[in-house]
Amino acid sequence: MTGVEGVEIINLPKIPDLRGNLSIVEEEKQIPFKIERVYWIYDVPGGQVRGGHAFREQQEMIIALSGSFDVVIDDGTTIKTFSLNRSYYGLLIPAKLWRQMQNFSTNSLAMVLSSTHFNEKDYIRDYDEFLIYQRSNEE
Ligand code: TYD
Repeated sequence: MTGVEGVEIINLPKIPDLRGNLSIVEEEKQIPFKIERVYWIYDVPGGQVRGGHAFREQQEMIIALSGSFDVVIDDGTTIKTFSLNRSYYGLLIPAKLWRQMQNFSTNSLAMVLSSTHFNEKDYIRDYDEFLIYQRSNEE
């Protein structure tokens, strides 16, 4: 059973250079799963919130390629906020956690590396259903 303690910010490699920095993420190195899908969120109007759901199976890594935003993780008992404000931070999120993204800065760009292809059935979008799901996983 993974709770918020299973969520971590990985410091991705950063190669500093006077010409500009370079960072790297490789599957099964900094990221413990096979990457099946990449998507990104951008042009988020001020004050908007993304996410607000959990995944049954999908694991992911979220990187703020540009700008900054917060990712709020909730395991049904504990809520923790992770601020992504460096391009070399990779937030690793196991499955079965409620997550929300908020406080997007202007021109922020969120890249999500996902362990699964898109499957709407993997989503839990109702918070009460999520709590019931969490309790049933604890038993
Ligand atoms: P959703 O995952 O709910 O967005 P967020 O969690 O960032 O707020 O996805 C928004 C819409 O986009 C929803 O109708 C599903 C669709 N979608 C796809 O078709 N494929 C995808 O890979 C993703 C991530 C979303």
